[in-house]
Amino acid sequence: MKKKIAVLPGDGIGPEVTKQGIKVLEVIAERFGHDFEYEYASVGAVAIEESGDPLPEKTVDVCMNSDAILFGAIGDPKYDNDPSAKIRPEQGLLRLRKALKLYANIRPVKTYASLLNRSPLKRERIEGTDLVIYRELAGGIYFGEKGRSEDEKSAYDHCTYSVEEIERISKMAFEAAESRRKKLTLIDKANVLETSRLWRQTVQAISENYPDVEVEYLFVDNAAMQLILRPNKFDVILTENMFGDIISDESSVITGSIGLLPSASIGEEISLFEPIHGSYPQVAGKDLANPIATILSMGMMLEHFGLYEEAELINTNIDFMIGKELVTQDLNSRNFVSCSKVGDILSLLLDLNVSDVQFENMFEGKLPVI
Ligand code: IPM
Ligand code: MN
Repeated sequence: MKKKIAVLPGDGIGPEVTKQGIKVLEVIAERFGHDFEYEYASVGAVAIEESGDPLPEKTVDVCMNSDAILFGAIGDPKYDNDPSAKIRPEQGLLRLRKALKLYANIRPVKTYASLLNRSPLKRERIEGTDLVIYRELAGGIYFGEKGRSEDEKSAYDHCTYSVEEIERISKMAFEAAESRRKKLTLIDKANVLETSRLWRQTVQAISENYPDVEVEYLFVDNAAMQLILRPNKFDVILTENMFGDIISDESSVITGSIGLLPSASIGEEISLFEPIHGSYPQVAGKDLANPIATILSMGMMLEHFGLYEEAELINTNIDFMIGKELVTQDLNSRNFVSCSKVGDILSLLLDLNVSDVQFENMFEGKLPVI
């Protein structure tokens, strides 16, 4: 299969983790006879430095002419504490989501047996957690009209949703639930917000077409609590843009590190794949970042291309590596491997048959990769 991939490394650790993502894609391409071509483009703080624009037109063109996008991370502390900044790195990502109509953000969250004690939550609460968040990504308060009054003493951000916007992601989430454990939780604030009441009404109507799927409705404040109390009781979570942003960061804590969570942002034509973590400037350039979220995002990209065997191979080998505690410093501060080593070891594993590898030898440094 021949595919063109736009690569937008972005800021902070973005370039290091995307490098590992591509390393893995290349091993897959080689092993299965695919041809992936990459075109790089700037986004975020880096793009502001270069051209004054967090999303240069050229970047949008590169994305539009690709089959999929690999996105690293965005954000620079320089802009975080300056509320008066007119140009911000995050605008690059938000404008890209709008331009490409990326309406469904899929964020799977699962625990790994060997990492259960790395989570701040008790083992018995989180064991077996395997949920997926379907976050609406192109509407809501993120994209409503916003502004300030003339005297600058008040500000507003409008939250709007149309039935169509709710329907297209809801159908996708119901289909996912049908193929999983057949449970869907809608998270909203229907006791207060009109948009949430429209969500509930629309989801109730759609649910009639999916009689096998059990539907649960939770207010977002309660959901925030239930996610910590019983994360393993969730299957598919469906929610609007802002709630999805918040609960996906919350859910990432369950697994032990946000550095493990991938995402896919599905658009009408082109889709984007990115780790859910940010630019983590504190470790940028030090080869310490966790590339697993990016590599798992590449798995989601391959699945999106219909390359299920390839995606499965990445997922199994990552499970295997985590099981052997070949992890970065966010997961084990005493005994860790570097960002690039994770990519190297995984590349080696993808080339071999997992069961053939003598891991004790790898730990002893008997294989060249370590
Ligand atoms: C995310 C991020 C973005 C968001 C930021 C960088 C604009 O937090 O993808 O979750 O709020 O959607
Ligand atoms: Mn977020």
